[in-house]
Amino acid sequence: MYYMTKKLIQVKNISKQFPGVLANDKVSLDIEKGEIHAIVGENGAGKSTLMNIIYGLYEPTEGEIFFEGEPVEINSPLDAINLGIGMVHQHFMLLPSFTVAENIVLGTEPRKNRIFMDFKEAVSRTEELSKTYGLKVDPYRKVESLSVGIQQRIEILKVLYKGADILILDEPTAVLTPQEAEDLFNVIRKLVKDLGKTIIIITHKLQEVLAISDRVSVMRHGKMIGTLETKDADEQILAEMMVGREVLFEKLHKEKIPKEKVLSVKGIKARDNRDLIALDQVSFSLNAGEILGIAGVEGNGQSELVEVLTGLRKMEEGTFTVKGIEVFNKSPREIRDLGIAHVPEDRLATGLSSEATIWENMLMGIQHTEPYAIKGIHMNKKKIMERSDRLIEEFDIRTPTGDLPAGNLSGGNMQKMVIAREFSFNTPILIIAQPTRGVDVGAIEFIHSQIIEKRNKGAAILLVSADLDEIFRLSDRIITLYEGKITGEFLNGEISKKDIGLYMTGKHMDLAGRGASNE
Ligand SMILES: Nc1ncnc2c1ncn2[C@@H]1O[C@H](COP(=O)(O)OP(=O)(O)OP(=O)(O)O)[C@@H](O)[C@H]1O
Ligand SMILES: [Mg+2]
Repeated sequence: MYYMTKKLIQVKNISKQFPGVLANDKVSLDIEKGEIHAIVGENGAGKSTLMNIIYGLYEPTEGEIFFEGEPVEINSPLDAINLGIGMVHQHFMLLPSFTVAENIVLGTEPRKNRIFMDFKEAVSRTEELSKTYGLKVDPYRKVESLSVGIQQRIEILKVLYKGADILILDEPTAVLTPQEAEDLFNVIRKLVKDLGKTIIIITHKLQEVLAISDRVSVMRHGKMIGTLETKDADEQILAEMMVGREVLFEKLHKEKIPKEKVLSVKGIKARDNRDLIALDQVSFSLNAGEILGIAGVEGNGQSELVEVLTGLRKMEEGTFTVKGIEVFNKSPREIRDLGIAHVPEDRLATGLSSEATIWENMLMGIQHTEPYAIKGIHMNKKKIMERSDRLIEEFDIRTPTGDLPAGNLSGGNMQKMVIAREFSFNTPILIIAQPTRGVDVGAIEFIHSQIIEKRNKGAAILLVSADLDEIFRLSDRIITLYEGKITGEFLNGEISKKDIGLYMTGKHMDLAGRGASNE
């Protein structure tokens, strides 16, 4: 009898043992043709590991994979691509100094005289691809000059170019603005409905799961807890399956702290990587015991502002003072010594070293200070390990030991490591960018309460986040940035999320008499 199975991929009892970590523990999963299948689970639950096995990057310790009912061995990404399986990773893998077209065709590039890449051909293929899928890109632009949203679009095109019918997207929206995420979802729907593709999507945002997926599978501690039809799920059910207990988003308690200005920013002007004006006459002040939220659509100067304030980018005009000490283009180290800690938005590029161990990462910035360095030279390994172990415990960083490379950590646990380190310095000022990107619901709750605790103890906190819910939940005061200028300033409670959107997209308020302009 002719029998057609709807099951495209079947994973049966897959386990993956890493040194000291059973990342996948007899996991089974079915993927049906033409579905959007979401995978959720806490940081370190084993989601990326499972996908890397399906994509042929990791060899499973045990278990089997079936493709259209037949057992298959996927020993490399090339095997996966031959089956039509493509993957966009949690951390992008593009070559920054190459153009968009070059990145897309890389590995399968058209050749001229069999030696040089046929750039013209690469461009025309990119344009064609971009048209077919309705994903706009400029083939000539260098990847390093593009926003993360566009970079991700290129990753997706790259996978489609290789002929993938099944796309695995590992946290594709973690780095996107709400608008970019919405655009991506439209692309995903189109790929599935009009072009018959199958999508596997990992995300921590349960609202997204409900909005986009047909089915959802939940992992916890390396195990598959279960698969549900999305129409039978809600946020509460999923969160409980993920963490094995109820998740409550409690109201955060904010203490009243006497105002004392610790950071004062005056007339800053700076350029972006493309040499365009990114910040224009930006002035504001920040008080002890206050969280100042910067709301804005990504790419409106937030990243540059954080870079200027942490010494990673030069300013052309203006200045800022930290507790009365003036800063004009000082080095990151000098600024750190003045009392500014920094949780960067791009943890892989600036926040951590993936080759170094977790304890070494925890030490960055204080490796020359007592009691971790004796007389500034000899390492006091005992103290260093004690501190590292304490932070691992306090911040619930999922790892068997601090002696492993930080690169082994799951994405969300890397983020927790960077936050743990920066918070442990007890600086008077904290600059925090996108603190909960790629972090699971339970950990978001934890990180938020840590931020509030810092505030209640008198830290002055500048919070940059593309997540408006986060801005509203944590901030005492909010300023909006649009095209490098401050367009509005509000006390939290003074304006709705909907109205603030207007200031994020160009409406200006009269700032006279407000803190932002008269400082
Ligand atoms: N290459 C590796 N070497 C050693 N251990 C690893 C490696 N990759 C992952 N692990 C470990 O396996 C476990 C599962 O990690 P994985 O990256 O699959 O989690 P995840 O569910 O994707 O989490 P997140 O939501 O934070 O991205 C973690 O404990 C992690 O530290
Ligand atoms: Mg992951």
